[in-house]
Amino acid sequence: MADDFTAKHGEATRAIHGGQEPDPYIGAVSTPIYQTASFAFDSVEQAVARAAHLEEGYSYSRVGNPTTDALEHKLALLEEAEACVVFGSGMGAISALFLGLCRTGEHVVCADSIYGATHGLLTGPLAKWGLSATFVDAREPGNVARAIRPDTRLVYLESPSNPTLRLVDFEAVAQVAHDRGVLVAADNTFATSVNQLPLRVGVDLVLYSATKYISGHGDTLGGAVLGGAELIRRVRQAEILHGATLSPMNAFLLLRGAQTLPLRVRAHNAHALAVARWLEGHPAVGQVIYPGLERHPQHALARHQMRGFGGVVSFDMGSEARAEQYIDALRLCTIAASLGDVKTLVLQPARMSHRFMPPQARADAGITPGLVRLAVGLEDVEDIIADLEQALARVE
Ligand SMILES: Cc1ncc(COP(=O)(O)O)c(C=O)c1O
Repeated sequence: MADDFTAKHGEATRAIHGGQEPDPYIGAVSTPIYQTASFAFDSVEQAVARAAHLEEGYSYSRVGNPTTDALEHKLALLEEAEACVVFGSGMGAISALFLGLCRTGEHVVCADSIYGATHGLLTGPLAKWGLSATFVDAREPGNVARAIRPDTRLVYLESPSNPTLRLVDFEAVAQVAHDRGVLVAADNTFATSVNQLPLRVGVDLVLYSATKYISGHGDTLGGAVLGGAELIRRVRQAEILHGATLSPMNAFLLLRGAQTLPLRVRAHNAHALAVARWLEGHPAVGQVIYPGLERHPQHALARHQMRGFGGVVSFDMGSEARAEQYIDALRLCTIAASLGDVKTLVLQPARMSHRFMPPQARADAGITPGLVRLAVGLEDVEDIIADLEQALARVE
């Protein structure tokens, strides 16, 4: 996919032009929403040829659609990936990854610091289907190496992780996994392609909740998996059969959002760093977690592996009650279960995004009851900090 003329351009140009030629029929500059379930054939013979991939063209929107294709093309160019497949949500993407690449009786090694529903998918439905998982602290590549077994198929990572912003050394983990013939997949939702390109350093597959920074405006769900053509062919096959399809309308919204991804993510990076530094200096705030802070224990790795440190800052208010009181006192920041929006969003992970994780798994991931996750938005940063400050004054 990444072989057309836009592949040679900078990331802003790829974000704007990638996958989006003017419409060939009437010249529409904005990619049309091909809001159709099916595509008419000239003959039965043509229908059969399309189903057998003997003729190019569309047949049915669960299998392919021009608007979703444009998005796949754009995301592949941004991630420098050979191929991309998009989904109706991030969890749709993650489910299709496991369904497409693993089978009953196999095993995955998974970072213990990950999004709560990913943990729930592995320990719930996928465990029931006979895929077993070992969760390890993947900050130490040796822990991944020790957990790999002869039946291990995949190592699954998230870096920076949700919500404790732990990092994984992609290059080191890819090396230990590849030495044993095991694939590596990484959820790049928090960093995005603007801040890091895991495929460049040996990761085989990258995943997204496109609901977050790729959309950027909090108006649609979406997901994506990117990587080599053959792996993506297998993940796409799983999608076609289990049906977590992205609608053309939502593909259009994601295409619009993705055009400003580089601009927005660089602004999120700057705002989050300013907020993290301000929080760090405040005596009423406990530990502040942000990979861009010099005191983050993996700051050296962050500098080596990332070009920017993302838009999420987490910090500890000391207890569950204080965290709740603090979040409730915020006025500009919105209490909501997402991140990556232009609006600053805030939540209490232990009671919201990660509430279904068993308490020990939450503790292993470093999620304390008093933790607050702040997804810093694009409002004037002085206004965000003023809101954080007024709320602190109201916490006992
Ligand atoms: C890191 C990460 N991955 C995956 C997901 C799941 O994505 P979605 O909510 O779009 O299904 C989320 C959702 O918050 C997430 O934070």
